[in-house]
Amino acid sequence: MIYQLIKPSLFIIYLFASLLCTSSCKQPEPKKNDIESRVNNLLSEMTLDEKIGQMSQIDPGYMSVDQINKTVRDGNYGSFLNVFGVAKINALQKIAMEESRLKIPLLIGRDVIHGYRTIFPIPLGMAATWNPEVVKKAFRISSAEASSQGIKWTFAPMIDITWDPRWGRIAEGCGEDPYLASAFSKAMVEGIQGEQLTDPTAVAACAKHFVGYGFAEGGRDYNTTYISEPVLRNVVLKPFKAAKEAGVLTFMSGFNDLNGVPTSGNEFTLRQVLRKEWKFDGMVVSDWGSVSEMISHGYCADEKEAALKAITAGVDMEMSSTTYVKHLKTLIAEGKVDQTMIDEAVKNILRVKFKLGLFENPYVDPEAEKQMLSPDFLDHARTVARQSAILLKNDPNTLPLSAGISSVAVIGPLADAPRDQLGTWVFDGKAENSVTPLTAIKEVLGDSKVNFAAGLKYSRDKSKTGFAAAIAAAKKSQAILFFAGEEWILSGEGQSRGEINLPGVQEELIEELAKTGKPLIVVVMAGRPLAIGKVVEKSNALLYAFHGGSMAGPALADLIFGKESPSGKLPVTFVKGSGQIPFYYYHNNTGRPANAKSWTPMDSIPVINSQASLGYKSFHLDYGFTPLFPFGYGLSYTTFKYSNIILSSSEMDSKGSLTVKASVLNDGNVDADEIVQLYIRDRVGSITRPVKELKGFKRIHLKSRETVGVTFELPASALEFFNGKENVIEPGEFDIWVGPNSDEGLHSVFIVK
Ligand code: NOJ
Repeated sequence: MIYQLIKPSLFIIYLFASLLCTSSCKQPEPKKNDIESRVNNLLSEMTLDEKIGQMSQIDPGYMSVDQINKTVRDGNYGSFLNVFGVAKINALQKIAMEESRLKIPLLIGRDVIHGYRTIFPIPLGMAATWNPEVVKKAFRISSAEASSQGIKWTFAPMIDITWDPRWGRIAEGCGEDPYLASAFSKAMVEGIQGEQLTDPTAVAACAKHFVGYGFAEGGRDYNTTYISEPVLRNVVLKPFKAAKEAGVLTFMSGFNDLNGVPTSGNEFTLRQVLRKEWKFDGMVVSDWGSVSEMISHGYCADEKEAALKAITAGVDMEMSSTTYVKHLKTLIAEGKVDQTMIDEAVKNILRVKFKLGLFENPYVDPEAEKQMLSPDFLDHARTVARQSAILLKNDPNTLPLSAGISSVAVIGPLADAPRDQLGTWVFDGKAENSVTPLTAIKEVLGDSKVNFAAGLKYSRDKSKTGFAAAIAAAKKSQAILFFAGEEWILSGEGQSRGEINLPGVQEELIEELAKTGKPLIVVVMAGRPLAIGKVVEKSNALLYAFHGGSMAGPALADLIFGKESPSGKLPVTFVKGSGQIPFYYYHNNTGRPANAKSWTPMDSIPVINSQASLGYKSFHLDYGFTPLFPFGYGLSYTTFKYSNIILSSSEMDSKGSLTVKASVLNDGNVDADEIVQLYIRDRVGSITRPVKELKGFKRIHLKSRETVGVTFELPASALEFFNGKENVIEPGEFDIWVGPNSDEGLHSVFIVK
């Protein structure tokens, strides 16, 4: 197979090199006290200009080589982003280390969001694996590749919770749930930074965007956010706290204003929460230009005020805009900024550079890049992509297809779209390294059994000229595989959508194909949850794959032909249409919750000429009160039966914990993974409490007919919440469920005394 032949010999070299490195190349982790004294000594030698230089980061794309070299020599910038190439970065570091006055290494940053050259599924897809371990390894690989290019700082993980699939950057995060996102936040930070920060493959992680960016009103990127303090603390801040606890070295402030104050000038979030409450001692970088954008926000009159507000709030390093370079000196001279504020910021920055061991070894080994795209890396990308796909529908005997099938039609704009399957935020991955579904299916079946007719050239294509060929291909095949979705450009930064249906005329083509009566399998490859209700109706089976990265094709072929059963679960609620947004499973109850009996669908309402009631419950006349698919949902090629929920006690005190057990039976003929989920509900609170909250999950493997016991520990601390005044664990009754998704499960009750 083509993709298994890529550079095997280089990989062997890499394996040997990395094994040798474990003993000789890694430097010992410096002690905290040593770092502090080195930071202080260096600081005491720095001029104010040099300090401000450390606090500034630019993309030198528009500068000549001579200009760049001079800025490094003069210590004008502590960090560059988007500089690449081993030789170039080594040359710049050499100037910094040998020609600048204080010999402070540069910190080279880049967006390495879901892989460097080996591209993994978009982070939302990774979250659908519910498998932090495989995701941690994915980020280890992406750091190994990125660091081999001299990149020592990535602007990941992006851990913005969002309730809005219109928002293009939903692709980059872990979905709607604070517990799930926290588990991935930890895994991603650990993967990026590795076990030892001085390891050549370690890269500094950056928890972004601090904070609330995912709550952009209307899902329109960069928009205003209003978030109450309970939602902020109980939901939005959680994955950031997890990143801090996992040792993340840096945070990035955001573009959004939060409750009226831009997050790059927000003392509450940056000083009160991050520094005072969480005791974060790493570095805060602003987002690109977000300091000067406080002028457009109407929060600062000019750049000088923007610099003042950013430094006062606690932004240590300014990305891209240059208000610090231009104005900090004057602000100090005028007494508006205290020198200690500058010193604190510089210390935070230097601490990161010392922790990464950059002073000892700022250079990158040119041999290290040989590991790029190693078969092992690609194989892991395939595993992650496989685990990230979610089976949303499967009429009996539709999937998996037999590898002995005589013919299949492969149709759809994503069937052979190598760049699109990589997804958004891919600077260094290459389309030529993608293996598409078409290629992978041909590998399995042989070319002659595959009738390919894309039908549409790209996802937004509105021309129906390709329909006839697609229908003809379908008619002469045993089954139809339709690869639907979005191009990569339709999600990501600045790429929000108002309607979240399949773009172009994909639905029309699917309808036409359904008319052939052939088994119709739709695979959706998209950057967000799409409103796919009609497609679900028309298809016999539906796999939701997000943008699965370099190895999306082979991963999907593995599932389609039953090499493995699908096992992903939704990391976000799927809505029926844009009008249902926001819809997240952990909403509070209304005073008038709807149920199946209380909803009157719009089309069944009689024409009434006088005032009348439709039950006065909380629902939409057109959508009803349930989403299309609930959070945590996902089917398998087998069926799982849950039984026997047992709690170690029916009571616990606020310092105690409960053991929760349940049994899961694989009641089918194939071995498969299941993701077992634990939810609770705090029935009565000092503020209204969510109808369900995820508090645990486990991915387990079950052989056919096997029963596995699953055990969760539920500490009382997991029940703590912020009630507007303080963090509390409140006594009272709690519901508890263990089940396959947020809508189903075995139920029990316990009391907190
Ligand atoms: C802007 C984006 O919001 C941020 O996530 C990214 O890291 C920076 N640009 C740098 O590219």
